[in-house]
Amino acid sequence: MSAKPDEDILNHNYDPAYRHLLKAKEIAQKENVSPELLSEINRAIELYQQRHTYCEGQTTQPSQALDTLINETLCYPWKDAHKKGEISYVASPRMLSGNKEVQLIKSITSASKARMALEIGLFTGCASLGMAEALPKDGKVVSLEIDKGIGDLARSFLDKSPAGHKVEIIVGPALESMGKLAANKMKFDIIFMDANKDGYVSYYKTIFEKDLLASGGTLIVDNVLKSGDPYSGEKYESNSWAISEFNEVVLQDDRVHKVMLPVRDGIYLIRRTEDTGDWLP
Ligand SMILES: C[S@@+](CC[C@H](N)C(=O)[O-])C[C@H]1O[C@@H](n2cnc3c(N)ncnc32)[C@H](O)[C@@H]1O
Repeated sequence: MSAKPDEDILNHNYDPAYRHLLKAKEIAQKENVSPELLSEINRAIELYQQRHTYCEGQTTQPSQALDTLINETLCYPWKDAHKKGEISYVASPRMLSGNKEVQLIKSITSASKARMALEIGLFTGCASLGMAEALPKDGKVVSLEIDKGIGDLARSFLDKSPAGHKVEIIVGPALESMGKLAANKMKFDIIFMDANKDGYVSYYKTIFEKDLLASGGTLIVDNVLKSGDPYSGEKYESNSWAISEFNEVVLQDDRVHKVMLPVRDGIYLIRRTEDTGDWLP
């Protein structure tokens, strides 16, 4: 394992307003603007960072097992693993959901008294482990991952943790695996969707058409702000079109209650309207 994760990975900022502030600072420095203006820009940048640090600090810290999993993911030699043919593409530690998001998922999982959870897009197991920790003893997380090498790595991380045995990994394209789960009449109280973004619309349709979300269940969807592209109209991320399309499908779907939260790269919480009283006049 290499010693230290890249700073850029840890500090990646998903907020376009922040990115524009950094740009404004660069321009202000080049153009020799008044010290007051430069100092206001610097203060705004500092406040962005402080809010992030404050929220992290006010959040429950990860269990020892989750902390180890997060650190091992950040330090993992992803490029070497790909060169050696252990994984099919160069994965990035930026794909990790991280502690704040996982604590939110844990909170929702425990509040819903969930027993069965499904993760679409496992990576190294961060969210799966969080959900497993929040489930009762007989609870189970089924986690879908397309890359066998990544699935094996996640297994090795999960096997070192006390709750990891609750996670079953299914390797293969998520859509196929979801079809098999539905054929076996499996239903999930919590579904966390976080795989390839261009698959989101199909996953969403499959969840509701094949009844994978249990009555009273919650679907949690990650990256619905995609670095701000869906509302900024900028093209910071190449696949943000898929998220804009997905968000529109959810918005137009009267069967569901939805709330979009600006946590990290944006999270959608989606529930059937029959579970939230939204069918009332
Ligand atoms: C953003 S990462 C998931 C991060 C993870 N949820 C966490 O909490 O850290 C997306 C994962 O989905 C996997 N993936 C991509 N396309 C997939 C597909 N069609 N079916 C299943 N998994 C897929 C990727 O290999 C990757 O590991």
